[in-house]
Amino acid sequence: MKRNPHKELAKGAEAIIYQGRFLNFKVILKKRVPKLYRLPEIDYRIRTQRLRSEAKTMVSAWQCGVRVPELLGIDLEKTTLICKFIEGDLLYTAVRTHDSIQKIFFKVGEEIAHLHANDLIHGDLTVFNVIVTEKLIPYIIDFGLGGFSGELERKADDLLTFYSTLKAITPKNKQLFENFKQGYINGYSEGIQALEQMRKIMSRARYIARENRLE
Ligand SMILES: Nc1ncnc2c1ncn2[C@@H]1O[C@H](COP(=O)(O)OP(=O)(O)OP(=O)(O)O)[C@@H](O)[C@H]1O
Ligand SMILES: [Mg+2]
Repeated sequence: MKRNPHKELAKGAEAIIYQGRFLNFKVILKKRVPKLYRLPEIDYRIRTQRLRSEAKTMVSAWQCGVRVPELLGIDLEKTTLICKFIEGDLLYTAVRTHDSIQKIFFKVGEEIAHLHANDLIHGDLTVFNVIVTEKLIPYIIDFGLGGFSGELERKADDLLTFYSTLKAITPKNKQLFENFKQGYINGYSEGIQALEQMRKIMSRARYIARENRLE
């Protein structure tokens, strides 16, 4: 029987997350698993492409000083990424358990400010993709849909995704997004334009929804 020395921690939409040890660090092994509904050659291409872009974006973010788990290696054949394990709670959980949650959202805003100021896009900025440590430091994870872009629309998309998931989990969303915004603008003054773009996307969506109601 094949031995797997790593403990399965979570099953995401695209990957299985294992916990293990590597170079004497506590690590996460993120293995992108095949999707049976895709043709095998296309499937492998998608998985390696996401793995490469996750690794690239993570390293670029780390080089810019954004708090992300340090990348320790990738195994293209096994479509696996290895990075440091971050001890903490998902932002999703922290919203319900932490007293200093407003401060945490300000800090998350600052991290995303650094990311965007360097034209890096997260691509899936949800409350499930931020880990908050005991010292209240947020780490950004899950860069599989991330990449490099200076486009306002892409930055606005990150902000909108973040706000939408926040809205879905807490009635305090307006206040917390305000704290996030303060941190965001504090770290990236041009972020005001991305926020304005986000507002435009939202009112466009509301307009379309109203039009559909009239049909
Ligand atoms: N570096 C890390 N340290 C600690 N936990 C982690 C780390 N990376 C991932 N995790 C845990 O594994 C979960 C899934 O990881 P990730 O978001 O990268 O994968 P995913 O396949 O996109 O998952 P999902 O589809 O749920 O977004 C995270 O929500 C988190 O609980
Ligand atoms: Mg995720």
